[in-house]
Amino acid sequence: MSYLPAENRYDKMKYHRCGKSGLLLPAISLGLWHNFGEVDTMENCRALIRRAFDLGITHFDLANNYGPPPGSAELTFGRILKTDLAGYRDELIISSKAGYPMWNGPYGDWGSKKSLIASLDQSLKRIGIDYVDIFYSHRPDPDTPLEETMGALDLAVRQGKALYAGISNYAPEQAGGAAVILKQLGTPCLIHQPKYSMLNRWIEDGLLDVLEDEGIGCIPFTPLAQGLLTDRYMNGIPEDSRAAKSWGFLKRDTVTDKLVEKLRSLNMIAGKRGQTLAQMALAWILKDPRITSVLIGASRVEQIEQNVATLDYLEFSDDELARIDKILAQD
Ligand SMILES: NC(=O)c1ccc[n+]([C@@H]2O[C@H](COP(=O)([O-])OP(=O)(O)OC[C@H]3O[C@@H](n4cnc5c(N)ncnc54)[C@H](OP(=O)(O)O)[C@@H]3O)[C@@H](O)[C@H]2O)c1
Repeated sequence: MSYLPAENRYDKMKYHRCGKSGLLLPAISLGLWHNFGEVDTMENCRALIRRAFDLGITHFDLANNYGPPPGSAELTFGRILKTDLAGYRDELIISSKAGYPMWNGPYGDWGSKKSLIASLDQSLKRIGIDYVDIFYSHRPDPDTPLEETMGALDLAVRQGKALYAGISNYAPEQAGGAAVILKQLGTPCLIHQPKYSMLNRWIEDGLLDVLEDEGIGCIPFTPLAQGLLTDRYMNGIPEDSRAAKSWGFLKRDTVTDKLVEKLRSLNMIAGKRGQTLAQMALAWILKDPRITSVLIGASRVEQIEQNVATLDYLEFSDDELARIDKILAQD
């Protein structure tokens, strides 16, 4: 069936400036790490992308290796772009990344100029577009000079294959170094994509300060800890959940009794706020003005709807924050 985007798609979503750039990103963005591979059904993938766009989600995040198999999420997105969103490229922010294993031999991994530029060319072909909006170095490479990796991002922008440069999984000192080099090259670092959620607070310890000082935006990934910070695992591991899937990155043994106890305590606070745990977990991240967008994943349309409804209530009282901190600090 042909698709016409909702006319009111920009009515409810909030858009935040990404660092000191001119780019606005939706408070909630959608990532295609899981649920968009060859193993997933095209109809569900289409439904997820359509609903996200209808709700004002303009930013879709990819990487060369998303699938499984690697590359298939970009192929899926490319097909949907062609069938459903062809006339809307200028309303979309599409990102991709390179830096994790992608093809055999010495050039299919890490952060050399050879690897990054070749990977970006492959991603553009798979998605079927001339440029990505954001191209990331997916992780720092301990054996390649930072100047070379940042030089590759700068080259991608100068070649017109990417509009902006981003980094992901860089520690505070590495992010600071990358920012200086990119500034010197004339391609300022737009954004950092770090892991961050109630269950993993490492970016509070220096990274957010560096990003603020350098005028770089921040888009945390796995804000729901891959689904743990939701009602998904309160009563065991559902068969259709990520933890139950053989190819997912969330393993069954992560769901311990101790963790579930913690999640239940958080869920009680969320309930008193009139929110689901997922909504409270997203609002908790968005309370920091240095956060540009939260990068969620979803396996169902209703999850996207519920997560976007987070924006209806973002405030926290000091008492709520203190109670949440106390629960999170428990071993
Ligand atoms: N830069 C990097 O190194 C890196 C690494 C990882 C991820 N990422 C990016 O971050 C994106 C998001 O990662 P993620 O998918 O792990 O994010 P997430 O939002 O933490 O987890 C998504 C999963 O949570 C569950 N979920 C979401 N909303 C829910 C709701 N309202 N109620 C119940 N369950 C809900 C779903 O699990 P079920 O599938 O079980 O339903 C969904 O697949 C990725 O797609 C990717 O773009 C980047």
